[in-house]
Amino acid sequence: MPLLELRGITKDFPGARALDGVSLDLEPGEVHALCGENGAGKSTLIKVLCGVHPVGSYGGEVRLRGETARFRALADSEASGIALIAQELALVPGLSVAENLLLGREPRRWG
Ligand SMILES: Nc1ncnc2c1ncn2[C@@H]1O[C@H](COP(=O)(O)OP(=O)(O)O)[C@@H](O)[C@H]1O
Ligand SMILES: [Mg+2]
Repeated sequence: MPLLELRGITKDFPGARALDGVSLDLEPGEVHALCGENGAGKSTLIKVLCGVHPVGSYGGEVRLRGETARFRALADSEASGIALIAQELALVPGLSVAENLLLGREPRRWG
């Protein structure tokens, strides 16, 4: 069973079908590059995968460890072990690498 499966993912925006039946299997330990021209739908696929585009807003199915994933927000996918790290404009120069990686999720106690 793949670690992560995308099955027939379709995503429509007003005036544009961004994703049209995308399927993808990810096995443990694999590294993938998702390549395509500007507007091909790469960001949209990743947003489906991590709950930024919530379940119900796309067609098809995301399966994680064999179970249907019904992410309604980024926090849901993060709780399942999926992390989205944006390439640009997301770093705080004054913080360490570790602090940047844990931005908003810093280990803390008593608030
Ligand atoms: N929030 C949005 N509203 C309307 N159209 C969108 C939205 N996000 C993406 N699109 C459209 O979906 C298509 C795929 O975009 P995107 O996933 O950003 O492509 P990529 O990341 O490969 O450059 C494009 O036609 C884009 O204009
Ligand atoms: Mg993009």
